[in-house]
Amino acid sequence: MGSHKLSVSLDSRSYSIHIGSGLTKAGDNSLLLPRLRGNQGVVVTNTTVAPLHLRRVQEWLAAGGYESTAIILPDGEEYKNHEVLQRLYQEIFRAGIQRTGYICALGGGVIGDLAGFAAATYMRGIDLIQLPTTILAQVDSAIGGKNGVNLESGKNLVGTTYQPRVVISDVDFIATLPERECLCGLGEVVKYGLLAGDDFISFLEMNQTEIMKQDPRSLASMILSCSSIKVDYVVRDEYDLLGVRAVLNLGHTVGHALEKMYAYRNLAHGEAVAIGLVCALALSVAMKSLAEPSFQRGLQLLKLYGLPMLLPMDADVDEIIDLMRRDKKANHGLSMILLRGLGDPYLEANIDSGLLRKTLERCKQPLMAS
Ligand code: NAD
Ligand code: GLY
Repeated sequence: MGSHKLSVSLDSRSYSIHIGSGLTKAGDNSLLLPRLRGNQGVVVTNTTVAPLHLRRVQEWLAAGGYESTAIILPDGEEYKNHEVLQRLYQEIFRAGIQRTGYICALGGGVIGDLAGFAAATYMRGIDLIQLPTTILAQVDSAIGGKNGVNLESGKNLVGTTYQPRVVISDVDFIATLPERECLCGLGEVVKYGLLAGDDFISFLEMNQTEIMKQDPRSLASMILSCSSIKVDYVVRDEYDLLGVRAVLNLGHTVGHALEKMYAYRNLAHGEAVAIGLVCALALSVAMKSLAEPSFQRGLQLLKLYGLPMLLPMDADVDEIIDLMRRDKKANHGLSMILLRGLGDPYLEANIDSGLLRKTLERCKQPLMAS
């Protein structure tokens, strides 16, 4: 199967995203690597991904003329912190990496964010290769340059925007991904459907069986569409300052509040985003900006991909609203990305808390027409 190539045009920070099967097999595919500043680097990965994919990736790098030392970090969101970052800097230094060295991030969003932050800051910035291995990382976190670590006070509170030199999304990595992690990624995929509208929603509706079976061609087409939607927002607002890139947060304001409320246990990120999407769709209807048939189509899509759709019965709606006000992007107001139609998102900055409370309560019951 051939591979797809997408260009991210950001002046001197431009790069390519390659998507397909077999991309990290040694051989011709080593040519996908750009010319880096030097040929010595590290592959940063974790204890779960290393036994599955590290050897192949190091062989592939070697076939392209790049030497690498492996750095294997513990697996989990709880390790995306300053302590592990310190250890990472030390290991990069011990591997003899100079300013011309590179970092290759092999893993999901946690590894991508940690290794990306290290690449942005080690010796004031060295080359970064993103090799995302989860659906979420291939459609979202590896693209656009955001990186960072968590603080005790909240997620992703420290970080930079630092573009990689290349992103290589090899769909073969997905074959070893646990089902629940696939589902989390699909929550983000449905988000892109709602952001982009009819064409991509129809693709997702028509190709659900192949996507769920992880047919490589269908997976690659899906990842290509999501990546190009994200790239379109990133190139228009690289540093997230203009309210354009912010639209990518559809479903995330309520999603983040839910994750925080459940202390990042029980509810995975993608599951929280899926419920957040239902809430955003429902509030869009309540504010009379979204028509009922579009609302129902959005709900059907979430159902088709087996995503959770109900706000938990025990969820304290006032606490969710309070957490939304304290979201790092909210500036203490109540704002959310809503839809005027499928494919027509906007930032609503003046949400009435009474209407939001009522809508969130409604989201505890099924809203799909039978
Ligand atoms: P993750 O990195 O924790 O990966 C999920 C799990 O899957 C982990 O246990 C991981 O070891 C395992 N795994 C990864 N690839 C695998 C494979 N191919 N086979 C088997 N197991 C594999 O989680 P994620 O969902 O990829 O990313 C979530 C993180 O991404 C969060 O920290 C979030 O803040 C961040 N994020 C960043 C951005 C951004 O723009 N930088 C965007 C969205 C999310
Ligand atoms: N994940 C949202 C962004 O990259 O802006």
